[in-house]
Formats: sequence, C-alpha cells, structure tokens
Amino acid sequence: MTSNKGIALVNLDDDGVDRAFRADVLQGLSEEQKAIPARWLYDDAGSELFEKITQLPEYYPTRAETEILKAQGHEFADLIGADRAVVEFGSGSSVKTPLLLHAINPAAYVPLDIAGDFLRASSAELAAKFPGLPVYPVEADFMRRVELPDEVSNLPKLGFFPGSTIGNMVARTAVDLLRTMRQTLRQESKLLIGMDLIKDPAVLIAAYDDAAGVTAEFNYNLVRRINRELGGDIALDALRHEARWNDEFARIEMHLVATRDLTFSVSGKPFTMREGQSIHTENSHKFCRRTSNTLLLAGGWTPVKRWTDSEGRFSLVLADATITRSAP
Ligand code: AVI
Repeated sequence: MTSNKGIALVNLDDDGVDRAFRADVLQGLSEEQKAIPARWLYDDAGSELFEKITQLPEYYPTRAETEILKAQGHEFADLIGADRAVVEFGSGSSVKTPLLLHAINPAAYVPLDIAGDFLRASSAELAAKFPGLPVYPVEADFMRRVELPDEVSNLPKLGFFPGSTIGNMVARTAVDLLRTMRQTLRQESKLLIGMDLIKDPAVLIAAYDDAAGVTAEFNYNLVRRINRELGGDIALDALRHEARWNDEFARIEMHLVATRDLTFSVSGKPFTMREGQSIHTENSHKFCRRTSNTLLLAGGWTPVKRWTDSEGRFSLVLADATITRSAP
C-alpha cells in the first residue's frame, strides 16, 4: 500500500529551491506556447492574494458555493447521512467546512493539505469550533493516494472538494485525481464536489480580471517568485495580465502577455519573448450538467444529486463511488 507517512513532500536542491519548480519553469519557458503549471501560483503571497480574490465583487464562485452550502443543509443531511468521516482535499483555510459539518453531523474530520503549518493552524481553529468532533489533519499531496489515519479506517467517508479546484486541471489530470480520491476514500464513499458552470464569457472574464487588479497581482506574483527563487530577471513591466475565454475547451485561461519584445534569463538560462507572445499560467475549466457528469463517471463516481445557487452560476455535485459492474 502506498503511504504518505514519512515521505518528504518537497524536494529542495542545494540552494533551497524546489527542484520541481525549477524544472517546470525552465521547461515551460522553453516552449513556443510558454506555460507554467498553476500550482506554482500559490506561494505564501499567492495564497494570500487568492484569499483576497475570493472576496472580490466580480469573483462569484466563493459566494455562490457558500450560498448553496447554507441553503441545502437539510438535503445534505438526508442524502449523506450522519457519522461519516469527512475528508477535505486541499483544505486550506477551511472556511466553507463549518457549514457542511453543521449540516451533516459527521463522526470525524480529516483535512488534507500540502501546506503543513497552515493546515495545523486551521485545523486547531476548526476543532475549537466543533468540540467533540475528532479532527485528524494529514499533511499530504492529495494528487497521490493518501493513507488515512487508523482512527477513521472503519468509517464510511465523504470526500469534500469545494471551490471548483477540479476545474484547474485538464481532463486527464482531473480524471486521475478523481480515481485517486476514490482509492483514498475506498468503497461506500461519497464525494461532494464544487464545479463552476459555463456562463456569459463577459462575466467569467470579469471574475478573472477584476477592476481592482487583484487577479493581475496574483498572476504577476508568479513572475516575482521566479525572479526571487530562481534568480530570474524577467521585466514585470513588460508583461500584461490577460484572462481569455477558450470556448473550445470551455475554460478561462490566465496569460502573461509580452507588451514588447524581451529577453531575460532564469537560473542562468536565456529566453526571449516576442511582443504579443504569452506565458499561460492557469486554466479554470467551466462545466455544464453533461460535461460534469461525464468527468465524474470517467473518474469512477456516479453523480446522484446536483445543486446550484439561486443565479445558476455554480454547482455542488454529490456522487457515489461507482460500484464496478461487468454489464455496460
Ligand atoms: C483555486 N481555483 C479554483 C481558482 C479558480 O477560480 O480557478 C483560482 C483562481 N485563479 C484566478 N482567480 C481564481
């Protein structure tokens, strides 16, 4: 069995730099369509900026999902039932979690996050709000199968994956993650997952290019991080934040677009960008009922119930771990 126990989650080189970060950036900047995986947006400054994004008037997903969690407590209780262990994937600051825990009265709560200090602090806060609820934080990369604490091994599980973080993955990675979650949670488990919905591109673009420029700062922060951690000299004033709707793949893309021809180096390696060329820094896929069903089924989950907010902007989907049958 794969175990997360005792495995170093971050592999640093002699300069204290995350080897995977350096490799992803050097590889990504070498391509014609430059691209850097979105996970590197989230250093401490990036995580703080993301928290600010969730408060922005244009960024509807957090408010819409919170509205559903507040409104549908009775239905969650009916369909999920009490006495499950709630396993939250990438729990972060766990702000939405109390709403779910109040509604379903679980037997235990297991937040999983790769950021250990953050995880311990937010777990302690949550445990204080729910005296009597056993909380077992696990520092782990949820993209891999996680061995859950022995204390919850005999309990049925509810996976909780809010925020439409699944939308930040291309389909193949999303399917891999859903399958991995199923292995982590085992049989008889359920999954409550947030999935943002396709809507007017103007609304989507505003949500990812807000008037106050917070999302732009979130994107620029990646360049600051590259310059600081990887000894880069990328001219920030030569890059412009852009949120693009890619209709073919039903996703918002974040790009950093060169406003003039530029040359720079990172870790001693030279790069050039032509005016108009971009670095693609994030995908945020949006779903409809059918595409979300297809994705969940491909990942080994059978959708059983879907809720949307009052304006139909965002969905929360409850799914059961699919029972394997030999019939079609
Ligand atoms: C974390 N994730 C679900 C956010 C999203 O909406 O795709 C990240 C984000 N990027 C820019 N704004 C928000």
